[in-house]
Amino acid sequence: MQKLYIQFNEFLINDPCFSDLEKELFKMAKDVCQVAYAPYSNFYVGASLLLENQVFVTGSNQENSSFPCGICAERVALFSAKSNYPNFKVFKIAITTQAKGFQNSNPVAPCGLCRQVLLEYEIKQKHKIEIYIFNAKKVIKFNQAKDLLPFYFAEDRLKRK
Ligand code: THU
Repeated sequence: MQKLYIQFNEFLINDPCFSDLEKELFKMAKDVCQVAYAPYSNFYVGASLLLENQVFVTGSNQENSSFPCGICAERVALFSAKSNYPNFKVFKIAITTQAKGFQNSNPVAPCGLCRQVLLEYEIKQKHKIEIYIFNAKKVIKFNQAKDLLPFYFAEDRLKRK
């Protein structure tokens, strides 16, 4: 059987390889993280997207006293982008967290549900979505959603014989 690996690259946050658009994307994620509604976990997450039309779309996690109603920052941003700009591809997503009192020496990776949502759009748009997870010091880059969810479930499984 073919072996599947999670592939990524690690950078310092101030690495000169990052373009102005990418730096702006990181800033947007940091800013929106500040306004997350996370009174129950106190775990603040911000996500920013860069679309094909050069528009940025952001999202933060939204919690609820009925815990399962809450939703992750990544899906807030992705669903907002796909509602408002359904015909434009998502090129990049940046994700960051603010969580005082939590052990957070490494950037935080998206949860399984968000990986699945990223993958759905990546497959549909036939264009890779670059994923950047970062904190004050480090950036970890995945070249595509598939790299974060190598052994995945997708639409082709729903086809009947
Ligand atoms: N959270 C996100 O926003 N994104 C993730 O990928 C992981 C978790 C949020 C959900 C919840 O509001 C809080 O972080 C703690 O799980």
